[in-house]
Amino acid sequence: MMPMSSGRFFTSRLVVSALLMLCFASPLGAQDKSQPWWRHAVFYEIYPRSFADSNNDGLGDLRGITSKLDYLHTLGVDAIWISPCYPSPQFDFGYDVADYENIDPMYGKLADFDVLAREAHKRGIRVIMDFVVNHTSHQHPWFLESKSSRNSPRRDWYIWRDGKGPGQPPNNWESSFGGSAWTLDPTTGQYYYHYFEVQQPDLNWRNPAVEEAMFDVTRFWHKHGVDGFRLDAVDLLYEDPDLKDNPVLPGKNEFGDPKMTNKYNDNLPQVHDELQRLRKVTDANGQVLIGETWTDNIDELKAYYGPHQDEIQLPMDFLFTTVDKRSAPGFRKQIGLAESSGGWPVFVISNHDIVRSYTRYGDGQNNDQIAKLMAGMYLTLRGTPILYYGEELGMENHDPVRKEDVKDPLGQQGWPEQKGRDGERTPMQWTSGANAGFTQGTPWLPVDPAYSTHNVAFESKDTDSILNFYRLLLAMRHRSPALLDGDYIPVDQDDPNILAYLRRSGKETILVALNFSSSSQPFDIGQATHGVSRAKSSVLLTTSSTDVTVKGDKHTILLSPYAVFIARITP
Ligand code: NOJ
Repeated sequence: MMPMSSGRFFTSRLVVSALLMLCFASPLGAQDKSQPWWRHAVFYEIYPRSFADSNNDGLGDLRGITSKLDYLHTLGVDAIWISPCYPSPQFDFGYDVADYENIDPMYGKLADFDVLAREAHKRGIRVIMDFVVNHTSHQHPWFLESKSSRNSPRRDWYIWRDGKGPGQPPNNWESSFGGSAWTLDPTTGQYYYHYFEVQQPDLNWRNPAVEEAMFDVTRFWHKHGVDGFRLDAVDLLYEDPDLKDNPVLPGKNEFGDPKMTNKYNDNLPQVHDELQRLRKVTDANGQVLIGETWTDNIDELKAYYGPHQDEIQLPMDFLFTTVDKRSAPGFRKQIGLAESSGGWPVFVISNHDIVRSYTRYGDGQNNDQIAKLMAGMYLTLRGTPILYYGEELGMENHDPVRKEDVKDPLGQQGWPEQKGRDGERTPMQWTSGANAGFTQGTPWLPVDPAYSTHNVAFESKDTDSILNFYRLLLAMRHRSPALLDGDYIPVDQDDPNILAYLRRSGKETILVALNFSSSSQPFDIGQATHGVSRAKSSVLLTTSSTDVTVKGDKHTILLSPYAVFIARITP
């Protein structure tokens, strides 16, 4: 290998060149093959309504996704998670499933899915389905049958109870979309439970027939080439059988309802027993489980790996999103906690329910630089990253400004405090042409005006773009044994501005230094490399515009505002 520099840090800007790519071609040997595939993979979430529209009806579809697999492959994506594309009345844009074993006509046919899975696999890309386990659509045949009579054989597939009294629901539980979590069915005179929308009744997982029917869904998709599932709202599978009232807290929530803790309908111990049973089924078919695991603390998150690593392989760490804007100590602490959990971390910075990271972390002036900073962090950490479509372009939130434009039921019900999630679901930005090249029809949500400069075609030509930075980072990650499998070793735990760490495997040591501040900051490489004398260092990738030359024994470099600095250390 020809390192870019040896014993000396070169002055740098982001240099996108074949030379740099050569530098990534580590001679240090292949990744640890004994590891399961998902540990070395980079996942990419696709919101199918918004990704690529092949028939110009304004909605994305499966053929659209298939047509973009080469793009994803070149980007360096190893697995795609497709948000729900099953038949659905779309009250919650697919998170209300009316048939778990088919494809909604708006997205295509099952045969289109088979082509997508085949073409993805040809390119080494695995396919993950979103599995909405907690609830179905109110139009699912199971619910229609359940609702038809108190004596229906499927009555107990959902959670039905008598009210406390006339006009009074069974208890005080609230829907996360506002109002009571109970809706009265006038025909049978009982209430059904729905943690989410009225149109999303909760399944009764205490019923073994429900469990078996859902296990069968995983087997069905195995036959269609599905490599795993993202488990939606998995913490909500079980409810207290006595339906005790939840403790009420002072104040009101965004819907004007009393605040409360979901003590009796969230995160019950039985969830873990269920996950262990599910895991046996998916393991039999070599499918991986990813969890939508919102937790309040690291111990709760830790529990999702299972007592014997026998529950979810990849529980998402949303605690990462609670860190204050651009705080080196904040991220250092959170990474440390995740590392201490003993599980394989899954850091998340964006998805279809969260304001885009570009908007959350941006300062309004250096947003592109900060987008690279965030990528420089979470793509070099130990664990499996899950990108959200468009994050690699620096797509930002484009929120509706008028209530009548809001499509998301959450925004419709919570306006104006809660604007909903349309802003993070706008069409993928492919070109500078009409509708960002997403569709020739009318897109279901407006494209973000910033698309003219933040799109795949434009950024591909700009060596300094966010997209090319992602490409380089991902290429580096895939070829670096230290980044794939190495330990995480924090450096200078007290630095208020620079988050720095080593990633070290038996074969390689990588140093990552990230300047989270808006001013240039000195960074002592000598200390970072644990005093390795005359350490030879080769810069792999940096966005620092400052001279980072090492002079004599002085091993301090100056990192420009929000700079990423990644080097290989050779003792
Ligand atoms: C979590 C999903 O990510 C979100 O989009 C959806 O509204 C709820 N679960 C209900 O399925």
